[in-house]
Amino acid sequence: MMPRIKIGIIGFGTIGSGVVKILETNGDIIKKRLGTEIEVIKIADLDISTDRGLNVDQNILTADAQQLVNHTEIDIVVELIGGYEPARSLILQSISNGKHVVTANKALLAIHGDEIFSTADHNHVSIGFEASVGGAIPVIRSIRESFVANKISNIEGIVNGTANYILSKMSDEHCSFDLALKEAQEKGFAEADPTFDIEGIDSAHKIAILTRLAYGTPINFDDINTQGISGISSEDIECAREFGYRIKLLAISKFNGESIDIRVHPAMIPQSHPMANVNGVFNAVRLCDDLMEENILVGHGAGSLPTGSAVVADIVQIARDILSGSKNRVSSQSFQNNEIKSIPIMNIKDIHSEYFLRFSVLDNPGVLSRISGILGSYSIGILSVIQKGRSDQGKGVPLIMMTHRSNEKDIQSALREIDDLDVTCEKSNFIRVEK
Ligand code: HSE
Repeated sequence: MMPRIKIGIIGFGTIGSGVVKILETNGDIIKKRLGTEIEVIKIADLDISTDRGLNVDQNILTADAQQLVNHTEIDIVVELIGGYEPARSLILQSISNGKHVVTANKALLAIHGDEIFSTADHNHVSIGFEASVGGAIPVIRSIRESFVANKISNIEGIVNGTANYILSKMSDEHCSFDLALKEAQEKGFAEADPTFDIEGIDSAHKIAILTRLAYGTPINFDDINTQGISGISSEDIECAREFGYRIKLLAISKFNGESIDIRVHPAMIPQSHPMANVNGVFNAVRLCDDLMEENILVGHGAGSLPTGSAVVADIVQIARDILSGSKNRVSSQSFQNNEIKSIPIMNIKDIHSEYFLRFSVLDNPGVLSRISGILGSYSIGILSVIQKGRSDQGKGVPLIMMTHRSNEKDIQSALREIDDLDVTCEKSNFIRVEK
């Protein structure tokens, strides 16, 4: 009879409850596949009194996470509290005590990944973090194992369920930003601090992790150009629709062999794009490489059971290694630790893209030619133009343009000049177009 795998869970919130529920309801099928049982022997949370509707022995609950970290029988510590501290210290202590770790903590891995991975490597333990990116989507396993022979060159992802839920609700149901956010929070998708979702920080954490795995490089988080969806108005969404596009918060990482173009921002994608109809809490990650060209993975990006299932999958994978006596069969970072080498990050000003431009200008003769003159002086070609409505005396009207592929630095310089014109009423706005 194979020994049971004993785990301790730190954090009995949305994901922690999901993990316990999955082990409770699907424990029999997991046992048939793994060959033994996974036993939760301790759960730590500051709140041990709230009834989660689960069949949990009260004696295994504790408010003291040290009891798990130092527990001699625990094989795997599952960290699901999120945030930097005390999560970082608890993980490092667990590793030093020879325990494998499973975590969904993208913020921690994006910022302190080097320290955590090297400490784990030094102590010969595994780190499972499938749940940190894309919820139920097995994107980390895909990069580490399924695409082990492939030279990945391009990652594009809708990797924040909350932001995607808000944009979908605004686009399809004309729901307000605030109401859509409130719904996402009620469904347990949003971070403790929802500005991480809205301002693109959570997506940046996730693309930092995927970039590390795909290209074998550490990423300095502050080098990721990050812009969220708080500046997206219902007018932007309407204009996008008129041009045949949808607006999505994209996390992008492109490697040209020398440097990496890594960024997070709202982008317009054509309605025919395979990710244009990835809506609500669904996430999608598109990977391009030299062998399969393109692969798109889609699934639930947040939520108790979807994310919980990714955590359980990691527990099972580590349990298999424990049972078979193998260690780090698959390198946690996808590359061997001594093969992780720093690759330069491209300055956002050097990228090229098509752009959607929105001006607010006086409805006077000659205005269009002054604006197109400035754009022309920076070699920015115009693909199409719409002026929406006519204005009352002295008030601005929206003037919308789509450009040909242009350089970001030129776009930013041109917009600064246009904003200084006496016919410009509000600061101009741009959204990058990804095809
Ligand atoms: N707040 C995150 C999201 C949770 O909305 O996608 C999953 O990482």
